[in-house]
Amino acid sequence: MPHQRDAAPTALAMVGLPARGKTYIARKVARYLSWLGHPTRVFNVGSYRREHLGAQQPNSFFDPDNAEGKQALLGMAMAALDDMIAWLEEGGEVAIYDATNSTRLRRQLVQERCKKHGVPVVFIESICDDPTVIDATVRETKLLSPDYALVDPDEAAKDFRARIAHYERVYEPLDDPEASYIKIIDVGRKIELNRIRGYLPARLAPLLINLHITRRPIWLTRHGESVFNQLGILGGDSDLSPRGEEYARSLARFVNSQLPREASMIVWTSTMRRTIQTAQHLTRKPRAWRALDEIDAGICDGMTYEQIEADMPDVHTARVADKFRYRYPRGESYEDVIQRLDPLILNLERQESPVLVIAHQAVLRALYAYLTDHPPNECPSLSIPLHTVIQLTPTAYGCEEKRFPLEPVLGPSPASNHPPPL
Ligand code: F6P
Repeated sequence: MPHQRDAAPTALAMVGLPARGKTYIARKVARYLSWLGHPTRVFNVGSYRREHLGAQQPNSFFDPDNAEGKQALLGMAMAALDDMIAWLEEGGEVAIYDATNSTRLRRQLVQERCKKHGVPVVFIESICDDPTVIDATVRETKLLSPDYALVDPDEAAKDFRARIAHYERVYEPLDDPEASYIKIIDVGRKIELNRIRGYLPARLAPLLINLHITRRPIWLTRHGESVFNQLGILGGDSDLSPRGEEYARSLARFVNSQLPREASMIVWTSTMRRTIQTAQHLTRKPRAWRALDEIDAGICDGMTYEQIEADMPDVHTARVADKFRYRYPRGESYEDVIQRLDPLILNLERQESPVLVIAHQAVLRALYAYLTDHPPNECPSLSIPLHTVIQLTPTAYGCEEKRFPLEPVLGPSPASNHPPPL
């Protein structure tokens, strides 16, 4: 079935030597745009090569003087390009062409094919000469790839360096003043934009300037149980229950025990009493964001699910039918929540210290979906239980997840007897 598309199709074509973080950037951009509701897909030429030509090719295969290798690689690049154009024609909105595209000639070819189908191309080039960053990329991504399965790591690193050298001999950085491009130098230290027009490409700059590769945990937690949680009431601004208070204390103990020595931590809450009270043993002054406030249930704020079903059956039925898009009368939908979290995500990406986010069920579902790359329409059913710390550590191509239940020892909550949410 064709996708629903809000904007004209666009192709983003990566440019850069091997191990310059192209795939990392491509995936990050794809995750961000998909989360914001733009159907986005990455077409990785390396995967086509592995699938059709076999993963374990020696570095000589990539030598530009190896005519056979060159022809085979060109074939893979064109196969991926054709699939990408077909996908855009079927309704895809943003396609990311993840390849080295390291010569002017190759980029011209990409541009001409796309132009024939009315698809504008924006190049994204990653330039980085810092050997520590390149070595880290080789270690964390290349040596773990099927290209080097069962190969001794030192041998693999040596072969990969030789592969890079083949590309270096012919590499031509982007310099066409007529082309539309974003150049990222040294992982976001400097960004150059050339002829960037249009809504979507312009949205990428704030994401790309916040790139970094420092490993740090992000802890997500709901506030401790509130008085309204005990009663099964949506929204409001109630205080913590005694069990919620107990969770606030356990949370402080937990986070302090996990925090690396000397590390400072950032604590973010919503503007609601229950999240600020949950942070009270960690900081007197958390950064309280309105963007982290719970989904606005509009005219249903202050009601229970049972009351909504009995008194406003239309609201109940419509929300069950499409919980992601359903907007409470005078309130919000999950889709709305994602849009208001956009600036917060950019801020979160920027942080290199551990961050603790104390917020609410719906808002955390939206943040969690972004961080773990779940399709946005799955948000409403993601599990974010009370009294559980979700530790997410972004890695090169994904996110490591650990969950720590810190259930209070005070008696069970009456909230657990409420029926499953709408
Ligand atoms: O019940 C707690 C709560 O945070 C409510 O304030 C909010 O309306 C609800 O969860 C969001 O969850 P759902 O979208 O599943 O109703």
